[in-house]
Amino acid sequence: MQTKTRRQLATPGAIIPPVPAMLLTVAGHADEPDEISVVFSFVINYSPAQIGISVNHEHIALQRVRQHGEFVLNVPVVSMIAAFDRADMNSKKSADKFAITGLTRGKASTVNAPTIIESPIHVECRVFDEVTLPPNRSMFLASVEATSVIDGVCDEDGTLIVKNVPFFGMTVGSGEFYTMGKRVGHIGQSVGRDDIKY
Ligand SMILES: Cc1cc2nc3c(=O)[nH]c(=O)nc-3n(C[C@H](O)[C@H](O)[C@H](O)COP(=O)(O)O)c2cc1C
Repeated sequence: MQTKTRRQLATPGAIIPPVPAMLLTVAGHADEPDEISVVFSFVINYSPAQIGISVNHEHIALQRVRQHGEFVLNVPVVSMIAAFDRADMNSKKSADKFAITGLTRGKASTVNAPTIIESPIHVECRVFDEVTLPPNRSMFLASVEATSVIDGVCDEDGTLIVKNVPFFGMTVGSGEFYTMGKRVGHIGQSVGRDDIKY
C-alpha cells in the first residue's frame, strides 16, 4: 500500500469535522432583549447529563449567561440554516434576535430562558462553573436540567430517531454545514453489544 504524504499546515487549526453547533437562547436583562447566539458544544457527561460551551467575550450572550446562569441549547435543523447564519452574523449586536432571525420565541419548562419553537430538541441548562480562557473566551460548564423533544424525535425510551431529525454540524476547517449521511456503525459493535446509548 502506498503511504500518503502528510504535511504540516502553516497555521495550526482545530480541524475536527464535524462539530455540533447549537443555537443558545438566554434571557435578556433590564431593557435588553432576549439573546440568541451560535455556540459550539461538547458533552461532558451522559449521566448526570452535563454539557460545555465557550462564549466569546465580545458576544452579547457572554454577559447574559453570566447574569442568569441558565440557558437553552436549541438543536438547529436544516430548515433553520438561514436563521442560524443570521444569528451568527449578529452575535456582537444587542438587538431583538428573534426579529432578526424570524425564529419563534418559546419558554423553557425548568430554567429561566427563552427557547426556539422551530428547534425539535431543547436542552435546558444551568451553569455550575465558568473558566476564563485567554485570549477571548469563557467556558461554561452546565448541568442539563430538562430536555424536551417534538413528536417523532425520540421513541418511548427516549432514544433519538436519527432519520427523523435533519440536524447538521459544521466542518471546522472549511466552515460548511453538513447534515448526517448514512449510518456506519454503533457503540460496542466490536464486542457484540448494542445496549450502549450515550
Ligand atoms: C458553527 C459555528 C460555531 C460557533 N461557535 C461559537 C462558540 O462556541 N462561541 C462563540 O462565542 N462564538 C461561536 N460562533 C460565532 C463566531 O465566533 C463569530 O462570532 C461569528 O462567526 C461572526 O464572526 P465575526 O465576528 O468575525 O464577524 C460560532 C459560529 C459558527 C458558524
